[in-house]
Amino acid sequence: MSEAAGEKRRTGDRLAELGKRRGFFFPSFESYGGVAGLYTYGPNGAALKRHLEDAWRDRFTVKEGNFEIHAPTVTPKPVLDASGHTDAFDDMLIECGECGETHRADHLVEDATELEDAESVPPEEMAGLIEDHDIRCPECGASLVDRPVESFNLMFETAIGPGDSTPGFLRPETAQSIFVEFPRLAEYARSELPFGVTQIGPGYRNEISPRRGLVRVREFGMAELELFVDPARNEPPLSSVAAVQLRLYPIDAQAADGKSYRNVTVEEALERNIIQNQWVAYYVGLARQWYDRIGIDPDRLRFRQHQAGERAHYATDCWDAEVEIDGAWIEIAGLAHRGCYDLAKHDEHADDDYTVFRPYDEPVTVERATVAPDMGQLGPTFGEQAPAVVDALEELVSTEPEAFEGESVAVTVDDTELEIPVEHTGFSRETVRETGERIMPEVIEPSFGIDRTVYTILAHNLKQDVVDGEERTYLALPSELAPTFVAVFPLMDRDGLGERARSVAADLRAAGFEVAYDDSGNIGRRYRRQDEVGTPFCVTIDYDTLEDGTVTIRDRDTTAQERVAIDALPGTLRALGNGDRTLQG
Ligand code: ATP
Ligand code: GLY
Repeated sequence: MSEAAGEKRRTGDRLAELGKRRGFFFPSFESYGGVAGLYTYGPNGAALKRHLEDAWRDRFTVKEGNFEIHAPTVTPKPVLDASGHTDAFDDMLIECGECGETHRADHLVEDATELEDAESVPPEEMAGLIEDHDIRCPECGASLVDRPVESFNLMFETAIGPGDSTPGFLRPETAQSIFVEFPRLAEYARSELPFGVTQIGPGYRNEISPRRGLVRVREFGMAELELFVDPARNEPPLSSVAAVQLRLYPIDAQAADGKSYRNVTVEEALERNIIQNQWVAYYVGLARQWYDRIGIDPDRLRFRQHQAGERAHYATDCWDAEVEIDGAWIEIAGLAHRGCYDLAKHDEHADDDYTVFRPYDEPVTVERATVAPDMGQLGPTFGEQAPAVVDALEELVSTEPEAFEGESVAVTVDDTELEIPVEHTGFSRETVRETGERIMPEVIEPSFGIDRTVYTILAHNLKQDVVDGEERTYLALPSELAPTFVAVFPLMDRDGLGERARSVAADLRAAGFEVAYDDSGNIGRRYRRQDEVGTPFCVTIDYDTLEDGTVTIRDRDTTAQERVAIDALPGTLRALGNGDRTLQG
Protein backbone atom coordinates (compact mmCIF):
# COMPACT_ATOMS: atom_id res chain seq x y z
CA MET A 1 0.00 0.00 0.00
CA SER A 2 1.31 3.45 -0.92
CA GLU A 3 2.12 6.00 1.74
CA ALA A 4 -0.83 8.11 0.52
CA ALA A 5 -3.23 5.19 0.90
CA GLY A 6 -1.91 4.49 4.40
CA GLU A 7 -2.34 8.14 5.32
CA LYS A 8 -5.85 8.05 3.82
CA ARG A 9 -6.86 5.23 6.10
CA ARG A 10 -5.48 7.00 9.11
CA THR A 11 -7.25 10.32 8.48
CA GLY A 12 -10.45 8.72 7.22
CA ASP A 13 -10.61 6.43 10.23
CA ARG A 14 -9.77 9.24 12.63
CA LEU A 15 -12.51 11.45 11.23
CA ALA A 16 -15.07 8.63 11.19
CA GLU A 17 -14.21 7.79 14.79
CA LEU A 18 -14.20 11.40 15.99
CA GLY A 19 -17.37 12.08 14.02
CA LYS A 20 -19.23 9.31 15.80
CA ARG A 21 -17.78 9.74 19.28
CA ARG A 22 -18.10 13.53 19.44
CA GLY A 23 -21.35 13.92 17.49
CA PHE A 24 -20.07 15.47 14.27
CA PHE A 25 -21.43 12.98 11.73
CA PHE A 26 -22.27 9.29 11.52
CA PRO A 27 -23.97 6.89 9.08
CA SER A 28 -27.78 7.17 9.24
CA PHE A 29 -30.29 4.42 9.95
CA GLU A 30 -27.69 2.04 11.37
CA SER A 31 -30.32 0.49 13.66
CA TYR A 32 -31.95 -0.77 10.46
CA GLY A 33 -28.72 -1.89 8.82
CA GLY A 34 -27.79 1.53 7.40
CA VAL A 35 -27.96 2.92 3.86
CA ALA A 36 -24.75 3.84 2.04
CA GLY A 37 -24.34 7.52 1.29
CA LEU A 38 -26.73 8.89 3.93
CA TYR A 39 -25.26 10.64 6.98
CA THR A 40 -26.68 12.32 10.07
CA TYR A 41 -24.98 15.33 11.62
CA GLY A 42 -24.89 15.10 15.40
CA PRO A 43 -25.07 18.21 17.61
CA ASN A 44 -21.48 19.36 16.95
CA GLY A 45 -21.63 18.62 13.22
CA ALA A 46 -24.99 20.33 12.79
CA ALA A 47 -23.64 23.44 14.54
CA LEU A 48 -20.46 23.43 12.44
CA LYS A 49 -22.50 23.02 9.25
CA ARG A 50 -24.86 25.83 10.27
CA HIS A 51 -21.94 28.16 11.00
CA LEU A 52 -20.33 27.26 7.67
CA GLU A 53 -23.55 28.04 5.81
CA ASP A 54 -23.78 31.36 7.69
CA ALA A 55 -20.18 32.20 6.68
CA TRP A 56 -21.01 31.37 3.04
CA ARG A 57 -24.19 33.45 3.20
CA ASP A 58 -22.28 36.36 4.69
CA ARG A 59 -19.62 36.28 1.94
CA PHE A 60 -21.53 35.28 -1.19
CA THR A 61 -24.99 36.69 -0.50
CA VAL A 62 -24.83 39.59 1.93
CA LYS A 63 -21.42 41.13 1.15
CA GLU A 64 -22.00 40.75 -2.61
CA GLY A 65 -25.43 42.39 -2.44
CA ASN A 66 -27.10 39.27 -3.85
CA PHE A 67 -30.40 37.85 -2.67
CA GLU A 68 -31.26 34.40 -1.39
CA ILE A 69 -34.26 32.24 -2.22
CA HIS A 70 -35.62 28.97 -0.92
CA ALA A 71 -37.34 26.72 -3.47
CA PRO A 72 -38.82 23.18 -3.37
CA THR A 73 -36.49 20.23 -3.76
CA VAL A 74 -39.16 18.17 -5.59
CA THR A 75 -39.03 19.22 -9.22
CA PRO A 76 -41.46 18.31 -12.02
CA LYS A 77 -39.91 16.33 -14.87
CA PRO A 78 -40.46 18.90 -17.66
CA VAL A 79 -38.12 21.34 -15.87
CA LEU A 80 -35.31 18.77 -15.81
CA ASP A 81 -36.13 17.65 -19.37
CA ALA A 82 -35.61 21.26 -20.46
CA SER A 83 -32.38 21.66 -18.46
CA GLY A 84 -30.95 18.47 -20.01
CA HIS A 85 -30.65 16.57 -16.72
CA THR A 86 -32.98 13.68 -17.65
CA ASP A 87 -30.84 13.05 -20.74
CA ALA A 88 -27.34 13.96 -19.65
CA PHE A 89 -26.94 13.79 -15.87
CA ASP A 90 -25.22 10.42 -16.01
CA ASP A 91 -22.20 8.64 -14.60
CA MET A 92 -20.52 5.54 -16.02
CA LEU A 93 -21.55 2.39 -14.21
CA ILE A 94 -19.85 -1.00 -14.27
CA GLU A 95 -21.20 -3.98 -12.35
CA CYS A 96 -19.06 -6.86 -11.15
CA GLY A 97 -20.25 -10.12 -12.70
CA GLU A 98 -19.02 -12.03 -9.66
CA CYS A 99 -20.24 -10.21 -6.54
CA GLY A 100 -22.77 -7.81 -8.15
CA GLU A 101 -21.13 -4.69 -6.62
CA THR A 102 -21.55 -1.55 -8.77
CA HIS A 103 -18.72 0.91 -9.37
CA ARG A 104 -18.07 4.19 -11.19
CA ALA A 105 -15.99 3.08 -14.14
CA ASP A 106 -14.14 6.43 -14.36
CA HIS A 107 -13.11 6.24 -10.71
CA LEU A 108 -11.72 2.72 -11.13
CA VAL A 109 -9.71 3.93 -14.13
CA GLU A 110 -8.41 6.97 -12.19
CA ASP A 111 -7.35 4.72 -9.30
CA ALA A 112 -5.49 2.39 -11.68
CA THR A 113 -3.84 4.98 -13.96
CA GLU A 114 -2.29 8.45 -14.00
CA LEU A 115 -5.52 9.87 -15.47
CA GLU A 116 -7.06 12.64 -13.35
CA ASP A 117 -10.19 13.20 -15.42
CA ALA A 118 -11.41 9.82 -16.66
CA GLU A 119 -14.92 11.35 -16.60
CA SER A 120 -13.97 12.97 -19.92
CA VAL A 121 -13.22 9.60 -21.57
CA PRO A 122 -16.15 8.59 -23.80
CA PRO A 123 -17.96 5.46 -22.43
CA GLU A 124 -17.07 3.51 -25.59
CA GLU A 125 -13.33 3.96 -24.82
CA MET A 126 -13.73 2.97 -21.17
CA ALA A 127 -13.87 -0.75 -21.88
CA GLY A 128 -10.48 -0.50 -23.64
CA LEU A 129 -8.88 1.19 -20.62
CA ILE A 130 -10.36 -1.43 -18.28
CA GLU A 131 -8.85 -4.14 -20.44
CA ASP A 132 -5.45 -2.40 -20.88
CA HIS A 133 -5.04 -2.03 -17.12
CA ASP A 134 -6.68 -5.33 -16.21
CA ILE A 135 -8.98 -3.54 -13.76
CA ARG A 136 -10.56 -5.73 -11.12
CA CYS A 137 -13.50 -5.38 -8.74
CA PRO A 138 -12.26 -3.59 -5.60
CA GLU A 139 -14.77 -5.62 -3.60
CA CYS A 140 -14.01 -9.23 -4.63
CA GLY A 141 -11.04 -9.01 -7.01
CA ALA A 142 -12.86 -10.51 -10.04
CA SER A 143 -11.83 -9.17 -13.45
CA LEU A 144 -14.02 -6.40 -14.87
CA VAL A 145 -12.68 -6.87 -18.42
CA ASP A 146 -15.58 -7.35 -20.86
CA ARG A 147 -18.16 -6.12 -18.35
CA PRO A 148 -20.46 -3.53 -20.02
CA VAL A 149 -20.00 0.15 -19.11
CA GLU A 150 -23.41 1.82 -18.95
CA SER A 151 -24.71 5.35 -18.45
CA PHE A 152 -26.58 5.67 -15.17
CA ASN A 153 -28.81 8.69 -14.50
CA LEU A 154 -28.11 10.02 -11.01
CA MET A 155 -31.48 11.58 -10.27
CA PHE A 156 -33.90 10.13 -7.72
CA GLU A 157 -37.25 9.72 -9.43
CA THR A 158 -40.53 10.32 -7.64
CA ALA A 159 -44.22 10.82 -8.39
CA ILE A 160 -45.99 14.02 -7.42
CA GLY A 161 -49.52 13.24 -6.22
CA PRO A 162 -51.60 10.05 -6.41
CA GLY A 163 -53.20 8.40 -9.44
CA ASP A 164 -52.12 9.84 -12.76
CA SER A 165 -49.46 11.74 -10.95
CA THR A 166 -46.89 14.11 -12.41
CA PRO A 167 -43.46 12.51 -12.68
CA GLY A 168 -40.77 14.38 -10.81
CA PHE A 169 -37.26 14.17 -9.42
CA LEU A 170 -35.48 15.29 -6.29
CA ARG A 171 -33.37 18.17 -7.49
CA PRO A 172 -29.78 17.26 -8.39
CA GLU A 173 -28.65 20.89 -7.97
CA THR A 174 -30.26 23.94 -6.39
CA ALA A 175 -29.46 25.93 -9.53
CA GLN A 176 -32.45 24.88 -11.67
CA SER A 177 -34.96 26.19 -9.19
CA ILE A 178 -33.27 29.59 -9.57
CA PHE A 179 -33.20 29.47 -13.38
CA VAL A 180 -36.79 28.36 -13.73
CA GLU A 181 -37.98 31.36 -11.66
CA PHE A 182 -35.76 33.80 -13.56
CA PRO A 183 -38.57 35.96 -15.03
CA ARG A 184 -39.93 36.75 -11.56
CA LEU A 185 -36.48 37.10 -9.98
CA ALA A 186 -35.44 39.52 -12.72
CA GLU A 187 -38.46 41.65 -11.86
CA TYR A 188 -37.34 41.81 -8.22
CA ALA A 189 -33.93 42.92 -9.46
CA ARG A 190 -35.64 45.55 -11.64
CA SER A 191 -33.99 43.77 -14.60
CA GLU A 192 -30.70 45.45 -13.75
CA LEU A 193 -27.73 43.28 -14.64
CA PRO A 194 -25.64 41.98 -13.06
CA PHE A 195 -27.67 40.49 -10.22
CA GLY A 196 -27.07 37.34 -8.25
CA VAL A 197 -29.43 34.87 -6.62
CA THR A 198 -28.21 32.35 -4.05
CA GLN A 199 -29.66 29.26 -2.50
CA ILE A 200 -28.43 27.00 0.29
CA GLY A 201 -30.12 23.62 0.61
CA PRO A 202 -30.01 19.94 -0.19
CA GLY A 203 -29.28 18.33 -3.54
CA TYR A 204 -29.82 14.63 -4.24
CA ARG A 205 -27.76 12.28 -6.40
CA ASN A 206 -28.16 8.54 -6.50
CA GLU A 207 -24.39 8.03 -6.49
CA ILE A 208 -23.26 4.69 -7.87
CA SER A 209 -20.71 4.17 -5.17
CA PRO A 210 -20.84 6.50 -2.15
CA ARG A 211 -17.52 6.64 -0.33
CA ARG A 212 -15.11 8.46 1.93
CA GLY A 213 -17.48 9.66 4.66
CA LEU A 214 -19.12 12.93 3.71
CA VAL A 215 -17.23 13.22 0.41
CA ARG A 216 -19.61 11.24 -1.77
CA VAL A 217 -23.09 11.00 -0.32
CA ARG A 218 -26.56 10.73 -1.82
CA GLU A 219 -28.13 13.73 -0.10
CA PHE A 220 -25.86 16.70 0.44
CA GLY A 221 -25.88 20.41 1.12
CA MET A 222 -25.17 22.83 -1.69
CA ALA A 223 -24.58 26.56 -1.59
CA GLU A 224 -24.96 27.99 -5.05
CA LEU A 225 -24.84 31.44 -6.56
CA GLU A 226 -26.26 32.13 -10.01
CA LEU A 227 -24.95 35.46 -11.19
CA PHE A 228 -26.80 36.87 -14.21
CA VAL A 229 -24.53 39.11 -16.25
CA ASP A 230 -24.79 41.12 -19.42
CA PRO A 231 -22.56 39.32 -21.97
CA ALA A 232 -21.43 42.65 -23.42
CA ARG A 233 -20.49 44.18 -20.07
CA ASN A 234 -17.86 42.33 -18.05
CA GLU A 235 -17.40 44.54 -15.06
CA PRO A 236 -16.68 42.72 -11.79
CA PRO A 237 -15.13 44.72 -8.94
CA LEU A 238 -11.77 43.12 -9.69
CA SER A 239 -9.62 45.49 -7.63
CA SER A 240 -10.80 43.84 -4.39
CA VAL A 241 -9.32 40.48 -5.43
CA ALA A 242 -6.63 41.48 -7.96
CA ALA A 243 -3.75 40.66 -5.60
CA VAL A 244 -5.18 37.37 -4.27
CA GLN A 245 -2.68 34.55 -4.84
CA LEU A 246 -4.01 31.51 -6.70
CA ARG A 247 -2.61 28.10 -7.40
CA LEU A 248 -4.09 27.29 -10.80
CA TYR A 249 -4.00 24.01 -12.65
CA PRO A 250 -5.17 24.86 -16.17
CA ILE A 251 -5.82 22.35 -18.96
CA ASP A 252 -2.42 22.83 -20.61
CA ALA A 253 -0.58 22.25 -17.32
CA GLN A 254 -2.54 19.03 -16.74
CA ALA A 255 -1.51 17.82 -20.20
CA ALA A 256 2.19 18.72 -19.77
CA ASP A 257 4.62 16.04 -18.65
CA GLY A 258 5.79 18.00 -15.59
CA LYS A 259 2.19 18.77 -14.51
CA SER A 260 3.10 22.02 -12.78
CA TYR A 261 0.86 24.66 -11.27
CA ARG A 262 0.61 28.32 -12.26
CA ASN A 263 1.10 30.35 -9.09
CA VAL A 264 -0.32 33.72 -10.04
CA THR A 265 -2.50 36.52 -8.72
CA VAL A 266 -6.04 36.99 -10.02
CA GLU A 267 -4.79 39.96 -12.03
CA GLU A 268 -1.97 37.92 -13.61
CA ALA A 269 -4.34 35.02 -14.35
CA LEU A 270 -6.43 37.40 -16.46
CA GLU A 271 -3.49 39.22 -18.07
CA ARG A 272 -1.94 35.90 -19.08
CA ASN A 273 -5.31 34.60 -20.27
CA ILE A 274 -5.13 31.59 -17.94
CA ILE A 275 -8.65 32.43 -16.80
CA GLN A 276 -10.54 34.08 -19.61
CA ASN A 277 -13.71 35.36 -18.04
CA GLN A 278 -13.37 38.24 -15.58
CA TRP A 279 -16.33 37.14 -13.49
CA VAL A 280 -14.99 33.60 -13.19
CA ALA A 281 -11.60 35.04 -12.12
CA TYR A 282 -13.34 37.32 -9.62
CA TYR A 283 -15.15 34.41 -7.96
CA VAL A 284 -12.07 32.17 -7.97
CA GLY A 285 -10.35 35.00 -6.06
CA LEU A 286 -13.27 35.41 -3.68
CA ALA A 287 -13.42 31.65 -3.07
CA ARG A 288 -9.68 31.59 -2.29
CA GLN A 289 -10.15 34.38 0.29
CA TRP A 290 -13.17 32.68 1.79
CA TYR A 291 -11.35 29.35 2.09
CA ASP A 292 -8.67 31.15 4.16
CA ARG A 293 -11.40 32.49 6.43
CA ILE A 294 -12.97 29.07 7.06
CA GLY A 295 -9.68 27.32 7.80
CA ILE A 296 -8.87 25.43 4.60
CA ASP A 297 -5.13 24.89 4.32
CA PRO A 298 -3.94 27.06 1.36
CA ASP A 299 -1.07 24.65 0.72
CA ARG A 300 -3.58 21.87 0.11
CA LEU A 301 -5.90 23.85 -2.18
CA ARG A 302 -5.79 24.30 -5.96
CA PHE A 303 -8.13 25.39 -8.73
CA ARG A 304 -8.24 22.89 -11.57
CA GLN A 305 -9.74 23.71 -14.96
CA HIS A 306 -12.09 21.12 -16.44
CA GLN A 307 -11.03 19.34 -19.60
CA ALA A 308 -13.52 19.86 -22.45
CA GLY A 309 -14.97 16.33 -22.20
CA GLU A 310 -15.32 16.55 -18.43
CA ARG A 311 -17.48 19.67 -18.37
CA ALA A 312 -21.12 19.38 -17.42
CA HIS A 313 -23.53 19.58 -20.35
CA TYR A 314 -24.28 23.24 -19.61
CA ALA A 315 -20.79 24.64 -18.99
CA THR A 316 -18.50 26.56 -21.35
CA ASP A 317 -15.65 26.82 -18.81
CA CYS A 318 -15.27 25.47 -15.30
CA TRP A 319 -12.68 25.60 -12.53
CA ASP A 320 -12.98 23.24 -9.59
CA ALA A 321 -11.68 24.14 -6.16
CA GLU A 322 -9.88 20.97 -5.09
CA VAL A 323 -8.37 20.08 -1.74
CA GLU A 324 -5.88 17.46 -0.78
CA ILE A 325 -6.94 14.98 1.84
CA ASP A 326 -5.02 11.78 2.45
CA GLY A 327 -2.98 12.23 -0.71
CA ALA A 328 -6.03 12.49 -2.99
CA TRP A 329 -7.48 15.64 -4.59
CA ILE A 330 -11.19 16.16 -3.95
CA GLU A 331 -13.46 18.70 -5.63
CA ILE A 332 -15.22 20.90 -3.07
CA ALA A 333 -16.64 23.57 -5.40
CA GLY A 334 -17.13 24.17 -9.10
CA LEU A 335 -16.96 27.68 -10.57
CA ALA A 336 -18.61 27.44 -13.96
CA HIS A 337 -19.42 29.73 -16.84
CA ARG A 338 -22.85 28.38 -17.88
CA GLY A 339 -23.31 30.83 -20.75
CA CYS A 340 -26.97 31.29 -21.76
CA TYR A 341 -27.54 27.53 -21.72
CA ASP A 342 -30.14 27.28 -18.95
CA LEU A 343 -32.12 30.44 -19.67
CA ALA A 344 -32.25 29.60 -23.39
CA LYS A 345 -33.56 26.10 -22.60
CA HIS A 346 -36.29 27.40 -20.29
CA ASP A 347 -37.09 30.18 -22.77
CA GLU A 348 -37.64 27.49 -25.40
CA HIS A 349 -39.66 25.06 -23.25
CA ALA A 350 -41.52 27.18 -20.70
CA ASP A 351 -44.33 29.70 -21.24
CA ASP A 352 -42.37 32.69 -19.94
CA ASP A 353 -39.84 35.09 -21.41
CA TYR A 354 -36.30 34.51 -20.07
CA THR A 355 -34.77 37.68 -21.49
CA VAL A 356 -34.35 41.11 -19.90
CA PHE A 357 -34.74 44.54 -21.41
CA ARG A 358 -31.40 46.31 -21.81
CA PRO A 359 -31.85 50.07 -22.29
CA TYR A 360 -29.54 51.79 -24.79
CA ASP A 361 -27.37 54.61 -23.48
CA GLU A 362 -29.24 56.88 -25.89
CA PRO A 363 -32.51 56.02 -27.67
CA VAL A 364 -31.96 55.17 -31.35
CA THR A 365 -34.16 55.85 -34.38
CA VAL A 366 -34.54 52.88 -36.71
CA GLU A 367 -36.52 52.20 -39.84
CA ARG A 368 -38.76 49.21 -39.44
CA ALA A 369 -40.49 47.36 -42.30
CA THR A 370 -43.84 45.75 -41.46
CA VAL A 371 -46.69 43.92 -43.19
CA ALA A 372 -50.43 44.04 -42.43
CA PRO A 373 -51.78 41.36 -44.84
CA ASP A 374 -55.21 42.03 -46.32
CA MET A 375 -57.15 38.87 -45.38
CA GLY A 376 -60.09 39.99 -47.53
CA GLN A 377 -57.78 39.29 -50.49
CA LEU A 378 -55.56 36.47 -49.15
CA GLY A 379 -58.42 34.42 -47.62
CA PRO A 380 -60.42 33.79 -50.83
CA THR A 381 -57.20 33.32 -52.87
CA PHE A 382 -55.32 30.89 -50.59
CA GLY A 383 -58.07 29.33 -48.46
CA GLU A 384 -56.58 27.10 -45.69
CA GLN A 385 -53.06 28.14 -46.66
CA ALA A 386 -53.76 31.83 -45.87
CA PRO A 387 -52.41 31.76 -42.24
CA ALA A 388 -49.19 30.09 -43.45
CA VAL A 389 -48.87 32.77 -46.13
CA VAL A 390 -49.16 35.47 -43.44
CA ASP A 391 -46.44 33.75 -41.36
CA ALA A 392 -44.18 33.56 -44.41
CA LEU A 393 -44.72 37.27 -45.21
CA GLU A 394 -43.94 38.28 -41.61
CA GLU A 395 -40.77 36.20 -41.62
CA LEU A 396 -39.68 37.63 -44.98
CA VAL A 397 -40.27 41.27 -44.04
CA SER A 398 -38.07 40.89 -40.94
CA THR A 399 -35.16 39.31 -42.84
CA GLU A 400 -35.44 40.74 -46.41
CA PRO A 401 -37.61 43.87 -46.55
CA GLU A 402 -36.21 44.78 -50.02
CA ALA A 403 -38.15 41.76 -51.44
CA PHE A 404 -41.28 43.92 -51.12
CA GLU A 405 -39.99 46.66 -53.38
CA GLY A 406 -41.53 45.34 -56.67
CA GLU A 407 -45.11 44.75 -57.77
CA SER A 408 -45.25 41.28 -56.19
CA VAL A 409 -43.38 39.24 -53.64
CA ALA A 410 -42.63 35.48 -53.68
CA VAL A 411 -43.00 33.25 -50.60
CA THR A 412 -42.73 29.49 -50.29
CA VAL A 413 -45.52 27.65 -48.48
CA ASP A 414 -45.69 23.84 -48.34
CA ASP A 415 -42.88 23.63 -50.92
CA THR A 416 -44.87 25.75 -53.40
CA GLU A 417 -43.73 29.21 -54.46
CA LEU A 418 -46.59 31.69 -54.37
CA GLU A 419 -46.64 35.18 -55.89
CA ILE A 420 -48.47 37.78 -53.77
CA PRO A 421 -49.24 41.31 -55.02
CA VAL A 422 -47.40 43.69 -52.66
CA GLU A 423 -50.53 45.86 -52.35
CA HIS A 424 -52.24 42.87 -50.59
CA THR A 425 -49.42 42.53 -48.02
CA GLY A 426 -49.92 45.93 -46.36
CA PHE A 427 -46.16 46.48 -46.63
CA SER A 428 -44.92 49.75 -45.13
CA ARG A 429 -41.76 51.26 -43.72
CA GLU A 430 -41.92 53.41 -40.65
CA THR A 431 -39.39 55.18 -38.50
CA VAL A 432 -39.51 54.17 -34.82
CA ARG A 433 -37.63 55.32 -31.75
CA GLU A 434 -36.21 52.42 -29.71
CA THR A 435 -34.99 52.78 -26.14
CA GLY A 436 -33.37 49.35 -25.77
CA GLU A 437 -33.42 45.69 -26.73
CA ARG A 438 -34.14 42.35 -25.08
CA ILE A 439 -31.09 40.23 -24.26
CA MET A 440 -30.48 36.89 -22.63
CA PRO A 441 -28.07 37.13 -19.67
CA GLU A 442 -25.13 34.78 -19.23
CA VAL A 443 -24.67 32.92 -15.98
CA ILE A 444 -21.60 32.61 -13.79
CA GLU A 445 -22.06 29.91 -11.18
CA PRO A 446 -19.98 29.36 -8.07
CA SER A 447 -21.35 26.07 -6.66
CA PHE A 448 -20.09 24.90 -3.27
CA GLY A 449 -20.64 21.52 -1.64
CA ILE A 450 -21.30 22.00 2.06
CA ASP A 451 -20.59 18.46 3.24
CA ARG A 452 -17.26 18.13 1.44
CA THR A 453 -16.30 21.51 2.87
CA VAL A 454 -17.23 20.42 6.40
CA TYR A 455 -15.18 17.25 5.90
CA THR A 456 -12.19 19.24 4.61
CA ILE A 457 -12.34 21.69 7.49
CA LEU A 458 -12.27 18.78 9.92
CA ALA A 459 -9.46 17.02 8.01
CA HIS A 460 -7.30 20.14 7.66
CA ASN A 461 -7.73 21.23 11.27
CA LEU A 462 -7.45 17.95 13.11
CA LYS A 463 -4.12 18.40 14.90
CA GLN A 464 -1.99 16.71 17.48
CA ASP A 465 0.59 18.13 19.87
CA VAL A 466 1.98 17.50 23.32
CA VAL A 467 0.74 19.50 26.30
CA ASP A 468 2.18 18.98 29.79
CA GLY A 469 3.91 15.84 28.54
CA GLU A 470 0.67 14.36 27.20
CA GLU A 471 -0.36 13.95 23.60
CA ARG A 472 -3.56 15.79 22.78
CA THR A 473 -5.84 15.95 19.75
CA TYR A 474 -7.48 19.25 18.97
CA LEU A 475 -9.53 20.81 16.22
CA ALA A 476 -8.06 24.19 15.31
CA LEU A 477 -11.36 25.49 13.91
CA PRO A 478 -11.78 29.20 13.20
CA SER A 479 -13.85 30.70 16.05
CA GLU A 480 -16.60 31.61 13.61
CA LEU A 481 -17.19 27.94 12.78
CA ALA A 482 -16.60 26.22 16.12
CA PRO A 483 -19.76 24.39 17.30
CA THR A 484 -19.30 25.95 20.75
CA PHE A 485 -17.58 29.29 21.19
CA VAL A 486 -16.82 29.06 24.90
CA ALA A 487 -16.99 26.37 27.57
CA VAL A 488 -17.52 27.31 31.20
CA PHE A 489 -16.19 25.11 34.03
CA PRO A 490 -16.32 25.39 37.80
CA LEU A 491 -13.06 24.09 39.27
CA MET A 492 -15.38 21.70 41.12
CA ASP A 493 -19.09 21.72 41.86
CA ARG A 494 -18.95 22.78 45.51
CA ASP A 495 -18.59 25.79 47.82
CA GLY A 496 -20.73 27.88 45.47
CA LEU A 497 -18.36 27.44 42.49
CA GLY A 498 -20.99 25.50 40.48
CA GLU A 499 -23.67 28.18 41.06
CA ARG A 500 -21.27 30.94 40.06
CA ALA A 501 -20.18 29.06 36.92
CA ARG A 502 -23.77 28.34 35.91
CA SER A 503 -24.63 32.00 36.28
CA VAL A 504 -21.57 33.02 34.19
CA ALA A 505 -22.67 30.52 31.49
CA ALA A 506 -26.24 31.87 31.54
CA ASP A 507 -25.01 35.47 31.24
CA LEU A 508 -22.77 34.56 28.30
CA ARG A 509 -25.67 32.80 26.55
CA ALA A 510 -27.84 35.88 27.12
CA ALA A 511 -25.05 37.95 25.56
CA GLY A 512 -25.31 35.81 22.40
CA PHE A 513 -22.49 33.28 22.81
CA GLU A 514 -22.79 29.56 22.17
CA VAL A 515 -21.78 28.11 25.51
CA ALA A 516 -21.10 24.62 26.90
CA TYR A 517 -21.15 23.96 30.64
CA ASP A 518 -19.12 21.07 32.00
CA ASP A 519 -18.42 20.09 35.59
CA SER A 520 -17.57 16.42 35.19
CA GLY A 521 -14.08 14.98 35.64
CA ASN A 522 -10.88 16.87 36.29
CA ILE A 523 -10.15 20.18 34.57
CA GLY A 524 -7.49 18.61 32.32
CA ARG A 525 -10.02 16.09 30.96
CA ARG A 526 -12.57 18.84 30.40
CA TYR A 527 -10.04 20.92 28.43
CA ARG A 528 -9.24 17.86 26.26
CA ARG A 529 -12.93 17.25 25.54
CA GLN A 530 -13.39 20.85 24.39
CA ASP A 531 -10.13 20.81 22.41
CA GLU A 532 -11.34 17.78 20.51
CA VAL A 533 -14.54 19.50 19.39
CA GLY A 534 -12.73 22.72 18.56
CA THR A 535 -14.04 25.05 21.31
CA PRO A 536 -11.69 28.05 21.03
CA PHE A 537 -12.00 29.31 24.62
CA CYS A 538 -12.61 27.84 28.05
CA VAL A 539 -13.47 29.88 31.13
CA THR A 540 -12.75 28.47 34.60
CA ILE A 541 -14.37 29.64 37.82
CA ASP A 542 -12.21 28.95 40.91
CA TYR A 543 -11.86 30.12 44.52
CA ASP A 544 -10.23 33.40 43.43
CA THR A 545 -13.40 34.12 41.46
CA LEU A 546 -15.40 34.13 44.69
CA GLU A 547 -12.82 36.50 46.23
CA ASP A 548 -12.09 38.98 43.44
CA GLY A 549 -14.62 38.37 40.62
CA THR A 550 -12.02 37.26 38.07
CA VAL A 551 -11.98 34.11 35.90
CA THR A 552 -9.37 32.32 33.80
CA ILE A 553 -9.73 32.27 30.02
CA ARG A 554 -7.75 29.61 28.19
CA ASP A 555 -6.93 29.54 24.48
CA ARG A 556 -7.39 26.19 22.73
CA ASP A 557 -4.44 26.41 20.31
CA THR A 558 -1.73 27.99 22.48
CA THR A 559 -3.20 26.80 25.83
CA ALA A 560 -2.25 30.28 27.13
CA GLN A 561 -4.32 31.42 30.12
CA GLU A 562 -5.17 34.87 31.43
CA ARG A 563 -7.30 36.16 34.29
CA VAL A 564 -9.95 38.75 33.47
CA ALA A 565 -12.79 40.33 35.41
CA ILE A 566 -16.19 38.68 34.88
CA ASP A 567 -17.62 42.03 33.78
CA ALA A 568 -15.03 42.22 31.00
CA LEU A 569 -15.71 38.67 29.84
CA PRO A 570 -18.13 39.31 26.92
CA GLY A 571 -15.99 42.10 25.46
CA THR A 572 -12.77 40.13 25.87
CA LEU A 573 -14.26 37.00 24.30
CA ARG A 574 -15.57 39.02 21.36
CA ALA A 575 -12.14 40.61 20.79
CA LEU A 576 -10.48 37.19 21.03
CA GLY A 577 -12.97 35.72 18.57
CA ASN A 578 -12.40 38.53 16.07
CA GLY A 579 -8.64 38.12 16.38
CA ASP A 580 -8.34 41.69 17.74
CA ARG A 581 -6.68 40.39 20.90
CA THR A 582 -4.70 37.34 22.01
CA LEU A 583 -4.24 35.89 25.48
CA GLN A 584 -1.07 36.86 27.31
CA GLY A 585 -0.42 33.67 29.22
P1 ATP B 1 -17.84 14.65 -8.69
O1 ATP B 1 -17.11 14.76 -10.00
O2 ATP B 1 -16.94 14.51 -7.51
O3 ATP B 1 -18.98 13.69 -8.72
P2 ATP B 1 -19.37 16.82 -9.54
O4 ATP B 1 -18.46 17.41 -10.57
O5 ATP B 1 -20.49 15.97 -10.00
O6 ATP B 1 -18.53 16.06 -8.43
P3 ATP B 1 -20.75 19.21 -9.17
O7 ATP B 1 -21.81 18.69 -10.04
O8 ATP B 1 -19.84 20.27 -9.70
O9 ATP B 1 -19.90 17.98 -8.64
O10 ATP B 1 -21.44 19.68 -7.81
C1 ATP B 1 -21.11 20.88 -7.14
C2 ATP B 1 -20.54 20.57 -5.77
O11 ATP B 1 -21.43 19.74 -5.03
C3 ATP B 1 -19.23 19.79 -5.80
O12 ATP B 1 -18.14 20.66 -5.90
C4 ATP B 1 -19.24 19.09 -4.47
O13 ATP B 1 -18.72 19.91 -3.45
C5 ATP B 1 -20.70 18.86 -4.21
N1 ATP B 1 -21.07 17.46 -4.50
C6 ATP B 1 -21.36 16.94 -5.70
N2 ATP B 1 -21.69 15.64 -5.58
C7 ATP B 1 -21.59 15.34 -4.26
C8 ATP B 1 -21.82 14.16 -3.48
N3 ATP B 1 -22.24 13.04 -4.05
N4 ATP B 1 -21.63 14.22 -2.15
C9 ATP B 1 -21.23 15.37 -1.56
N5 ATP B 1 -21.02 16.51 -2.24
C10 ATP B 1 -21.20 16.51 -3.56
N1 GLY C 1 -25.05 23.55 -10.06
C1 GLY C 1 -23.80 22.97 -10.36
C2 GLY C 1 -23.75 21.52 -10.25
O1 GLY C 1 -24.64 20.92 -9.69
O2 GLY C 1 -22.82 20.95 -10.72
